[in-house]
Amino acid sequence: MRIDILTLFPEMYESPLAHSILKRARDKRIVDIVLTNIRDFAADKYGRVDDKPYGGGPGMVMMPGPVFECFEHVRRLHPEKGRVILLTPQGQKFNQAKAVELSEGKRIILIAGRYEGFDERIRVGLDAEQISIGDYVLSGGELAAMIIIDAVVRLLPGALGDEDSAKDDSFSAGLLEYPQYTRPEVFRGMKVPDILLSGDHTKIAQWRKQQALERTKKYRPDLLGNTQT
Ligand code: 6GU
Repeated sequence: MRIDILTLFPEMYESPLAHSILKRARDKRIVDIVLTNIRDFAADKYGRVDDKPYGGGPGMVMMPGPVFECFEHVRRLHPEKGRVILLTPQGQKFNQAKAVELSEGKRIILIAGRYEGFDERIRVGLDAEQISIGDYVLSGGELAAMIIIDAVVRLLPGALGDEDSAKDDSFSAGLLEYPQYTRPEVFRGMKVPDILLSGDHTKIAQWRKQQALERTKKYRPDLLGNTQT
């Protein structure tokens, strides 16, 4: 997969992309992540990428010119057209199903904005999908883009050490994950449930399923409307 990120702050991505699963996936060429600075496509010598909103009002708006120029440049770098995604609070809410859907494609082009928002002609002219990561306001789309990249890349074949470990994740079956324990057997008076030490894999699987259901009922009852069991 190839992921392009169009951003005013490419430096913000350096650390998240250079550690753990994302780093390994890039090193193994499972994903090619390319950062492009929108400011490099500004029309004037000051690198201007935002301007006042027509009709008045507070804040600044991302100008269409630099984003279009940047986008057209990035499109020319690679033959696959890919999905074009604008990060904005107006978007469809991101979830695991969307992560799975994106992980099945060959290319994603993410456009992160700052300021009060994008000139509407960016969304229309680039025929972009809009994604939000939740009902709260961030200062820009950069962190949202990182979250999407993390959720998508870990689903790519070979990205996780253990090929099975994405399957039991919270949400992947519509339920929260069951409780996990590791050594020691007793920690500060709290014991690992006997069933997990029993060696009975059928019983353990049943117990985990039931725990996942109970936890979901307790903490996220809203998820139980659409369980895929
Ligand atoms: Cl994608 N952008 C901004 N600025 N705020 C958000 C968001 C995105 N998703 C949730 N809040």
